[in-house]
Amino acid sequence: MNEAAIRSKLVQVGQDRLVRQLDSLDDAGRRRLLAQLAALDLDLIGRLIESHVKRKPHMDLPHDIRPADSYPRTPDNTRRELYQRAVERGRRLLREGKVGAFLVAGGQGSRLGYEGPKGEYPVTPIRRKPLFQVFAEQLRAFGRDYGRPIPWYIMTSDANDARTRAFFQKHGHFGYDPADIFMFQQGMMPAFSFEGHMLLSEPDSLALSPDGHGGSLRALDRSGALADMRRRGVEHLSYFQVDNPLVHCIDELFLGLHDLTGSEMSSKTIAKSGPLEKVGNFVVADGKLQVIEYSDLPETLAMQTNADGSLRFNAGSIAIHALRVSFIERLNRGGQLQLPWHRAEKKVPCIDESGNRVYPDKPNGVKLEQFVFDAIPLAQNPIVYTTDRAEEFSPVKNAEGVDSPATCRRDQIRRHARWLAEAGVTVPMKDGEPDAVIEISPLYATSAEQLRTRRLPMKTVAAGESVYLE
Ligand code: UD1
Repeated sequence: MNEAAIRSKLVQVGQDRLVRQLDSLDDAGRRRLLAQLAALDLDLIGRLIESHVKRKPHMDLPHDIRPADSYPRTPDNTRRELYQRAVERGRRLLREGKVGAFLVAGGQGSRLGYEGPKGEYPVTPIRRKPLFQVFAEQLRAFGRDYGRPIPWYIMTSDANDARTRAFFQKHGHFGYDPADIFMFQQGMMPAFSFEGHMLLSEPDSLALSPDGHGGSLRALDRSGALADMRRRGVEHLSYFQVDNPLVHCIDELFLGLHDLTGSEMSSKTIAKSGPLEKVGNFVVADGKLQVIEYSDLPETLAMQTNADGSLRFNAGSIAIHALRVSFIERLNRGGQLQLPWHRAEKKVPCIDESGNRVYPDKPNGVKLEQFVFDAIPLAQNPIVYTTDRAEEFSPVKNAEGVDSPATCRRDQIRRHARWLAEAGVTVPMKDGEPDAVIEISPLYATSAEQLRTRRLPMKTVAAGESVYLE
């Protein structure tokens, strides 16, 4: 779109203020702001201002909300044979190079208070490996074991792309072949005032933020990542978030179940730590599997219990999915990704109409995001598989308290102590916790099962010892 077209579109969608702002800038400033505007879908923004910014969108809660069924972690008699076939299928997919890994790392991670991409955060207990390295080593290990490198798709955003690339460069891509890494940026959305004006962060810059991890499904298409998958023969993506070093980036059983059941989008769940844990909830709503975010699940439902006292809505989402490439292609057909937009009222530092900088102390604006799990009800045969929190979920989200670096370090040590104990090593315990610091490189073992096949260098860990296995 040229400048005249952008200006007339801005007027059409009620952004006269922005047109006046363009007039007030020098050439360089005007070019900068125009470039940002040209990257936005102004027609869509015009519609969203009416439906989601000036008013709160009317989101009826589904009438009939029931707990979702899920495949158990370990199979009962009726499923034993299915699980065996699923593991075999998962292994075959990996041997045939049909699985890609997909990391979403475009978020701003503001709660942790770490300046910079969250994936840089040093997370492991001994080597202080950054999150990116933990994932890279896991994926390298699976590539090695199955004789096929795993193409790794990494989504960043304008907020952290340059730093993420520089970090990978500086660390030699953590031993990954750069030809197997496809890094791309997600889209951005402007923040709006409650009256529907796009807010400015600088006189020549919109207050932009990433358009939510749901935007990944659009960005995979626009960036050419889907085309890259087609070229390589990748049929499934193993999706995970940047904040959880315990994630099994690749899981043969989960991928195999997903493929065997013809599911287009599969998810992992764990039992919630309590009724109000801040995780999404898997439910069947008006007959369709979906996730209702903790903030949207009415407390009366969240608190409901079964006859035996257990929580009725107990299936928490840990944001790990398997997605069929053909499903993502289908969602993008026609050019518009039909996922709902979620509205959040936020404090947005900005430049006001008279050019003053404003640092609000209460929400002054609206941000809009799409969520990846809203694709589940659009998928054919979506399934949910139950995993174990201690094995697979301990995210770094907050600086302190729950889901913090401290709890994540503790959970990594607990998991690796358990793996060692299962492999026959005596691990000292004190007050119910391992009395040692233990870290196992994914290149040494990606699971307890694999650790049992290694010739371990010790039979016993001494109290207070630091053990790093590589
Ligand atoms: C998220 C899920 C929640 C789930 C929990 C598990 C949402 C709304 N909720 O919560 O259901 O139980 O994780 O840990 O997602 N990201 C992008 N681009 C964006 C926004 C986010 O790539 O525009 C990435 C982040 O980098 C991060 C992940 O998405 O890897 C999660 O984002 P975050 O906003 O931290 O989600 P949570 O509120 O923690």
